[in-house]
Amino acid sequence: MRFLVLHGPNLNLLGKREPQVYGTVTLAEINHSLEQLAGELGCFVDFFQTNSEGSLVSAIQEASGCDGILINPAAYTHTSIAIRDALSAVGIPCVEVHLSNIYRRESFRHTSLTAPVAIGQISGFGRDSYLLGLRALFNYITTVSCRT
Ligand code: DQA
Repeated sequence: MRFLVLHGPNLNLLGKREPQVYGTVTLAEINHSLEQLAGELGCFVDFFQTNSEGSLVSAIQEASGCDGILINPAAYTHTSIAIRDALSAVGIPCVEVHLSNIYRRESFRHTSLTAPVAIGQISGFGRDSYLLGLRALFNYITTVSCRT
């Protein structure tokens, strides 16, 4: 089983970017934790970070060989119909994650255009949002009886 982990704009700055909001963990550390968890689960993870909306759309379109997508669309969560449409078009099970709790922040962050095409969303647990998201995606795909 293979999962694609997509990180949106500015997430390459994690560690130094607004640590009071996003913590001090770096993107490399998040990816390392995900790799460890994937090893425990017996699956593979590929990673891609980009600051560009079009590159995220292309990565989603090219994900046909993978079983699931774990995505933090970052600011594009709140703006990108193109990313939502790409997720919807490929139909690959997807979980949306956020480090911060977007519902406790500015009102413009309260709307996610991408969550409605995801299985679900995990928001507010820092690095654990990604780890919980990967577990949720794995469980969803491997536990057919729980699908709705
Ligand atoms: C974020 C939340 C977004 O609102 C913000 O634009 C980000 C990061 C998060 O992980 O908390 O860049 O997706």
